[in-house]
Amino acid sequence: MTEKRENWGSRFGFLMAAAGSAVGLGNIWRFPYLTGENGGGAFIVIYLFCVFLIGLCIMTAEFAVGRRSGLAAVGAYKSYSKNWTFAGALGVLSGFFIMGFYPVVGGWALAYIAKSFTGLLAVPEAIGDVFGAFIGAPAEPLVWMIIYLVINVLIVARGVAGGIEKAGKILMPTLFVLLIFIIFRSVTLPGSSAGLEFLFKPDFSKVNGQTFLAALGQAFFSLSLGMGCMITYGSYLNKEEKLPSNAFIVTAMDTGVALMAGVAMFPAMFAFGMEPAAGPGLVFVVLPTVFAQMGAAGPILSGFFFLLLCIAALTSSVSLLEVVVAYLIDQHKMPRKKAVYISSAIMSVMCILSSLSLGVMSGATFLGVGAFDFFDILTDKIFLAIGGMLLAIFVGWFMKKEDLKDELTNGGTVEFGLFEVWYNITKYVIPVAIAIVAFAGITAIQQKGLMIFGLLIIAVLAVFSKKL
Ligand code: TRP
Repeated sequence: MTEKRENWGSRFGFLMAAAGSAVGLGNIWRFPYLTGENGGGAFIVIYLFCVFLIGLCIMTAEFAVGRRSGLAAVGAYKSYSKNWTFAGALGVLSGFFIMGFYPVVGGWALAYIAKSFTGLLAVPEAIGDVFGAFIGAPAEPLVWMIIYLVINVLIVARGVAGGIEKAGKILMPTLFVLLIFIIFRSVTLPGSSAGLEFLFKPDFSKVNGQTFLAALGQAFFSLSLGMGCMITYGSYLNKEEKLPSNAFIVTAMDTGVALMAGVAMFPAMFAFGMEPAAGPGLVFVVLPTVFAQMGAAGPILSGFFFLLLCIAALTSSVSLLEVVVAYLIDQHKMPRKKAVYISSAIMSVMCILSSLSLGVMSGATFLGVGAFDFFDILTDKIFLAIGGMLLAIFVGWFMKKEDLKDELTNGGTVEFGLFEVWYNITKYVIPVAIAIVAFAGITAIQQKGLMIFGLLIIAVLAVFSKKL
C-alpha cells in the first residue's frame, strides 16, 4: 500500500514538473495571439498536427535519451560522441536566448497583478492604450522584469525541487478552474459565437509557408522541446515510469491549456469588436476587458488570473534557466550560485534591450528587427525546430534501435505497441518534415537576413563546439 502511494506520488511530481515547464506563457500569452495573427482555425489544425505528429514523438524521444544517458542535454549528446556536442550546445544557447525575452513578458504579468487593483479595469475603453503605453515606457516594465528575474534567480540558486514544485501542484489545477470560469463568461457574451467560428472553422486560404513554420515553432516552444529541457527531466526519471504515456499526458495537458486559453479569449474578443491580430498584447487587453464587465469581482479575478499566469510562467522560465545553469555546473564545474548569477546577469542585459526595443529603442534594429523579436524569432522559428530535427536524426540514425526499444518498454516489461510507428516517424518523417517546413518558412518570411544569421550561428557552433 505505502509503496504504491510513493510510486504514484513521484509520478505526479514528475508530471507536474514536466507539465509546469511546458505550460507557461507559450500557452496563454503566445498561442492565442499567434492564432489571431495566422487566421484562426486553419492555424489550429496545423498546430495540432505539429503537436501530435512531431511534438509527441520528439518528447518521447527526449525522455528516452535523457533516461538512457542519465545526463542533461550537452552531456547526453557528448557521451555519445563529441561530434554531437553542438546539438546540446545549441539547446543551451536557445535557453539563453529565450531568457532574453521571456522575463520581459513575465514582468508584464507581474505588473498586471498590481494594475488589476489600481484602476486598470475602471475605464475598459482605455485598456488597450494603457498596455501600449506601459510596455513602451522606459522604466516601469524594466522594474517588473528585474523583479521577475530575481524570483527566478532565488528559486534556481536553491535548486528547483523545493517550494515552486509544491506550489505548482496546487496552483496549476487552480489555473485550470479559473480558465473554465473565464471560458464560461466569454462564450455567454452576446456576439461571442463569431469568435468560436474563427477558432474552429478553418479557412485554409490564409495558410502559407510562414503559417507552417509558425505552428511548428509554437509546438516546440509550448511543449518545451528542441533544446534538451525534456532530456534533462527524463534523466531524473526512474526506470519504472512509462515514457510514452508520460509524454502523451504532458502533451495533452499542454495542448488543452492552450486551446482553453483560445476559447477563453476569442469569443470575448469578437463580442467586444476587438481585432484578433492584435499581437503580443492580446491576453493583456482582452481578459482585463472581460474582467471589467464583472463589477466588484473584476479586479480580484483579474489579479488572481495574472498571479496564476505568473506562476505558470515561473515554472517554465525556471526550467529554462536551469538548462543553462546545469550546463555550467556539469561541464565547467562552476558552483551553482555562481552559475546562476553569471547567467542571469547576462540575461538581464538581454531583457533590458528586449524591453526597450518595444519603446524608446524601437529604432535600433539588427537585421531588420529589434532585440525582443530577434531573440523570439531566432529561437522559436529556427533554433528549436532545428534542435528537434537534430534530436530526431540522432535518435533515428545514431542510437541503436534495440536500446530505444529497451528504454521505451522498460526493458521489455511494459508494452509500447506503437514503437515501430514512433520509430519510423522519428527516423524518416520528422527530419524531412522539419526540413520542408523550415525551407518554406525561410523563403516566405520577411526577415531572411535573420534566418540566415541563425543558420550561420548553428554552423559556427557545429565547428567550434567540440571544446565546450
Ligand atoms: N514551454 C514554455 C511555455 O510554453 C516555455 C519553455 C520552458 C520552453 N522550457 C522550454 C520553450 C524549453 C522551449 C524549450 O511557456
